[in-house]
Amino acid sequence: MKRRQFLASTCALAMLPRTVFATQEPISLRAEAVMQQVLPAGDGRTSMLGFNGSMPGPELRLRRGHKAEIEVENALEEGTAVHWHGIRLDNMMDGVPVLTQELVQPGARMTYSFVPPDSGTYWYHSHYISHEQVARGMMGPLIVEDDVPPDVDHDITVLLADWRIREDGTLVDEFADMHSVAHGGYMGNFARGFLSRSQVRKGDRIRLRLINAATNRIIPLRIGGAAGSVVALDGMALPVPRAVSDITLAPAQRADVIVDVQEAVAFDMLTRDGTYRLADLAIAGVNTARQPGPISAHAPPVLPKPGTPTQHFTLSMMGGAMGGRHGGDNIWAFNDVSDLQPHPFGKFQRGETVRITLVNDTSFPHGIHLHGHHFYEVDADGGLGDLRDTTLVNARASRDIICVFDNPGKWLLHCHMLSHAVGGMRTWVAVA
Ligand code: C2O
Ligand code: CU
Repeated sequence: MKRRQFLASTCALAMLPRTVFATQEPISLRAEAVMQQVLPAGDGRTSMLGFNGSMPGPELRLRRGHKAEIEVENALEEGTAVHWHGIRLDNMMDGVPVLTQELVQPGARMTYSFVPPDSGTYWYHSHYISHEQVARGMMGPLIVEDDVPPDVDHDITVLLADWRIREDGTLVDEFADMHSVAHGGYMGNFARGFLSRSQVRKGDRIRLRLINAATNRIIPLRIGGAAGSVVALDGMALPVPRAVSDITLAPAQRADVIVDVQEAVAFDMLTRDGTYRLADLAIAGVNTARQPGPISAHAPPVLPKPGTPTQHFTLSMMGGAMGGRHGGDNIWAFNDVSDLQPHPFGKFQRGETVRITLVNDTSFPHGIHLHGHHFYEVDADGGLGDLRDTTLVNARASRDIICVFDNPGKWLLHCHMLSHAVGGMRTWVAVA
């Protein structure tokens, strides 16, 4: 497979736009065309889609347990819908045309209202022709604040993404070319991180909210200049913080880490040809007041405890290039069926515990996302592992997950490599 060379990143700082707090309710999000400096300053600007004049959209900060109202105005020339990725919300607010809502037509508005039950790091993105609208920039960070924030000097969001872009700044707009869809997906040749803060002090303890907002790229990330622990994955606090080494984030996955700053903090993507700088945090001053101490666990999320599974499904990923069984009538399929069918893949009673074996019978990794719920990855010795909303299953590997389906409605289950989703790797489940 031919690998595109990455465009150089000089890593001039890219900042997230100003945060919008829930106290400013109702929050307004205007989906619109934007011109953005994605490439380093001096290179061409890029015509994209975004929210409130920028790409990524503003960071939204909601309060756990409080009703949020977000009015989305569609100022695009095409329909859209916004999905609040990872939030366990009412099905009607999930933002999935045609499963949970009608399209928001150009010039129309829709108010999404929901009560986020879990604090943590989430994100929002278009869920209409998302392989294209997200690739054009329709995404942003969504933070549900902690009841009691951890003891850190700064809380910094780091949104990572990539784009297939020419040196004049124009996007290569073949978002669904067959070759990409059948392989790893529409992959950028330029990647970078957007940060909500540019500087820290040596000696600071900081929380980093890492979000992989790329449409298809798995990001193996190395954080240099700081040491600490992962405290949450996909928004959910780990019972015990885990020492950070390298962190692999599939598209849509998040990790919260707390680290102590030793020198300028570097965010590097590990590639076959070495490291590629995505972002960095400069040092300005020294924090002498902070005494290094252990990093404590965040308050555990409150989720239903799994019982003994009452149903066990196997979901086989199939199709794509480079071998693998083909079923379904699109490029990718689950269990020989491509795309959304009138009947759900699984039907569950509210509160039912279900085990699903995800079998990757293809030559590519897939990041499988379930809407409206978090599930446990079953770990190597058969126990309940991490809680996630998106799980990475490597080529020819398999993974079991256990989910308590306690949220009624129609929920998508799809590959979050958005090229694979449009290529057929999506299905849905119904919870009565
Ligand atoms: Cu991040 Cu179906 O979504
Ligand atoms: Cu996939």
